[in-house]
Amino acid sequence: MLTRDFISDSLYNPAYGYFSKQALIFSPKEGYNFAQFRDSADFLKTMGQQYEDIERELDDVRSIPRQLWHTPTEILKPWYGYSVARHIVRQYKSDRDAALHAEPLTIYEIGGGNGTLMINILEYIRENEPEVYGDMEYNLIEISPKLARQQLSRQATSKTAPHTNAKIINKSIFDWSERVDRTCFVVAMEVIDNFAHDVVRYNYDTGEPYQGTVRVYDDGEFEELYEGISDPLISDYLRVRSSLSNPGYNSPALPSSMYRRIRGQLPLAPNLTKAEFIPTHAFLLMQVLGRFFPRHRLVLSDFYKLPDTIPNAVDSPVVQTRFNGNMVPCETYLVQPGWFDIFFPTNFELLLQMYNVVCRSTADSNRLGKARVWSQRKFALENADLEKTSTRSGENPMVEFYENNKFFLS
Ligand SMILES: C[S@@+](CC[C@H](N)C(=O)[O-])C[C@H]1O[C@@H](n2cnc3c(N)ncnc32)[C@H](O)[C@@H]1O
Repeated sequence: MLTRDFISDSLYNPAYGYFSKQALIFSPKEGYNFAQFRDSADFLKTMGQQYEDIERELDDVRSIPRQLWHTPTEILKPWYGYSVARHIVRQYKSDRDAALHAEPLTIYEIGGGNGTLMINILEYIRENEPEVYGDMEYNLIEISPKLARQQLSRQATSKTAPHTNAKIINKSIFDWSERVDRTCFVVAMEVIDNFAHDVVRYNYDTGEPYQGTVRVYDDGEFEELYEGISDPLISDYLRVRSSLSNPGYNSPALPSSMYRRIRGQLPLAPNLTKAEFIPTHAFLLMQVLGRFFPRHRLVLSDFYKLPDTIPNAVDSPVVQTRFNGNMVPCETYLVQPGWFDIFFPTNFELLLQMYNVVCRSTADSNRLGKARVWSQRKFALENADLEKTSTRSGENPMVEFYENNKFFLS
């Protein structure tokens, strides 16, 4: 099978996939009161202690250790969701004032986790923008049946009154088939890092790419094999990427032609370059957005760099699992499906260029403004309630944490 099918199966197989069995999202019972902490280190200590307690509890009740992830949405709740809501409402109103639309606010969130972002966005708008809330609509597209059920119960048991304008749709965004012609916001927080990638390697002499496949043997061994490109999605991705200019994209896996010539004269030199992971499912997401949500604006956040990625490959993932209470990183993704988290950093600048080709014509960009990539810090400084999220020393986790995250805004 193709590498992306192997990774998708490892993560999402309904019977044994990592997300179906192993993963839980850490959610503190209440949002933190930041003013009660001396500084960011004090906050981190308390939060880290709670996180460890929950991990220990899980280990006690289960023979298989479960992994607990934490996301900015959960750690910084409700303020993180409020900052996303503030950005959306501002953009929505400025588009309305510029006569770009005269429609109610519509949001499509992809991958809602515990449903916390949905609740925090809805609560912020209900409290601060009742006129916008009155006719707005919130749709959450969630691949996991278990998380979709949880999101449904969160939406119905909101602190004040249920949000009857929210709808949970239990399907993968890749199975979306309905065209949404109204203007809308698409939100995806910490979702694309777990999107499957393919692997390519290049012929040292000709630069021709080869697609990676995984062969699974009856005894459970795996082998990576390379063949000429025949998959339409990989071929489309490489075609669009090679059409980019200003700047063009040169794969870091493919050294200069001079180096390749010299190298070719060495005895026993391998004929293929090192591996490059390519984000074919993130590219597919762009295609879904371009095709089915032609009038969307995107709000997406994720990692742009990660420690402990697989060595000696370009844009490679972290592959890890919990063992005896510790996170153990691996040097290959060819591991027992379902037992390991596999997550990737995103090259946001490249994603931006690909997005502009797939989702935005020049006329769109002139009308809607250019899509942009911001640091987490810049997004927080623009949109967060800095007073409510500051510790007593003035340090602010909204601004300082998750510095390896970026925002994509269109
Ligand atoms: C790491 S969690 C992030 C949850 C939440 N956005 C947050 O920031 O706390 C990723 C979420 O994306 C969902 N997901 C992954 N792939 C998806 C897909 N193809 N379509 C819809 N949801 C998906 C997962 O089930 C999970 O709810």
